[in-house]
Formats: sequence, C-alpha cells, structure tokens
Amino acid sequence: MKKRLAMISMVILLTLSLMAGCTQQPEPEAEAPNGNGGPEAPIMSLIAVGECTFAPFEYIDEATGEPAGFDVDLIKAIAEAANFEVEYKNMDWNSLIASLQTGEADLVVSGMTITDERALEVKFSDPYFESGQAWCVEEGSPIKSLDDLAGKTVGVQINTTGDYAAQKLDEMFKEEGKQGLGIKRLEHAADVFNELRVGGVDAVISDLPVIQEYLKNNPESNMIIPEPAFTVEYYGIAMRKQDKEIHELINKGLAVIKASGKYDELYEKYFGTK
Ligand code: ARG
Repeated sequence: MKKRLAMISMVILLTLSLMAGCTQQPEPEAEAPNGNGGPEAPIMSLIAVGECTFAPFEYIDEATGEPAGFDVDLIKAIAEAANFEVEYKNMDWNSLIASLQTGEADLVVSGMTITDERALEVKFSDPYFESGQAWCVEEGSPIKSLDDLAGKTVGVQINTTGDYAAQKLDEMFKEEGKQGLGIKRLEHAADVFNELRVGGVDAVISDLPVIQEYLKNNPESNMIIPEPAFTVEYYGIAMRKQDKEIHELINKGLAVIKASGKYDELYEKYFGTK
C-alpha cells in the first residue's frame, strides 16, 4: 500500500513538473524590444558625457573627430540592450557631475571611479570595470618604489582618484617625517604624460589601464610601470539621484550585455583577453 501511494505521488509530481515545463513563459530576452519581433520605438533619448583624453576608455578618434573608446561602445551597447537612444559628448572633467545637475547630460560615462564622496552627489550604476591607481616614470629614473616619491613631483589629473591618492601619499610622507610630495594637478588626463616627457614632473599617477595604453601607443616615450596598481577601484556610470527609471534601465542593460557576451567582446576589443 505504502509503495503504491509513493508511486502515485511520484506520477503526480512528474506530471506537475512536466506541466510546469510546458506552460513556462519564454525568457524575457526572447521578446526584448530589439529581438526578432522588430524594432520598437526607443523608450527615451539620453546624453552621455565623458572627458575624452582617457584612452582606451574615451578619446577622440583622429579619423572621425568623434568620441570613441570602451566607455563609448559600452554605453551604446547598454542603450541597444535596454532600448534607449544615446548620444556621447566630450566634456571637461570638472564639468561632468555639474552637467547632470544642470540637465545638460543624463549619464557620465568617463572611467569614473565609484567613491563615497561622489555618491553624495550622484547615483552610480552597478560597477562595470575594475581598475586601480598606478604610477609610471621614465626608464632609468631613480624612483623605484612609491616610497621614493617623497620629495619628488607627480602629475595627476585634477580631482581624480589619482589626485586624491597623491594627496594621501603626501600626508603619509609628512607624517613619517619625510619630505612631502609635489603634486601638479592638470586639467586633462592625457596632459600628465606630456608633463612627464617634458620633465615638468618626476612621475605620473593615473589609472593603470590608461597608463598601459599610453605606453603601448607611445613606445618611444620609454616609460615604465615599476609596480602593480596600489589601489582597487570600480568604475560606475553616474546619474542624477532622482532618475530612478534611468538607473534601472542602465543596470538592466549592463546585466543583459554581461550575460550575452557583448561586454566580453568589448573588453577583448580594448584590453585583450581577461
Ligand atoms: N578613475 C579616475 C577617477 O574617477 C579617473 C577618471 C578620469 N576619467 C577621464 N575620462 N578623464 O577619478
């Protein structure tokens, strides 16, 4: 008797699970706006901005004169996945967050590190890239480690995490009774490398992938990166705090392109295999 009952309940269970399988709804992706069902009108049109001297994340393409780079491709891919339109514009670093508040832009996609201070003013998307601060010098430089920077001068882009890291180092050196760190705070991310080349600074602190890209594109500069990155940071897309619908769209689009392999494709295009 017990056996029969067990058999019956197994049959019921099996039937139920089969039925569930049959009535399961198709994955939302299959009926996504840009799926095979034909294009739907975009939900909205957004303006993205970034400071375009930060290759390979954003730079001005010499051939087209237009912004290009990982961040530009990324936001376009997110827009396609989440069915909105996006236009990407170049803007000064110090104006980016302000442009959200004035309504000039809706998204800052600029290799911007998610920090607590910035999060007081803007809402960040889920992190989209792991990065960190590193430093470079010209080959043959007597500076062999971060500690050797005491009493020297570094070039940083103003108000970046590189700038903040340099300020911390300066304080640390002084606390240790050493000479401080001279900090040259420049307007554009790319300026720091020129400054090192003309001897205006002894070293550069910037985001590691950006230093690596500069070295790759300018082998004649004879620069080296003596140590691995000394911070871990995550980039996020910055938005107005109150734009709840946009936050959701961005995070949804990011999740879709991560799942679809599109993110990996872009990553490989700019950084090679992970
Ligand atoms: N990740 C650094 C920061 O958030 C530097 C970003 C600089 N980006 C740029 N497009 N210039 O402070």
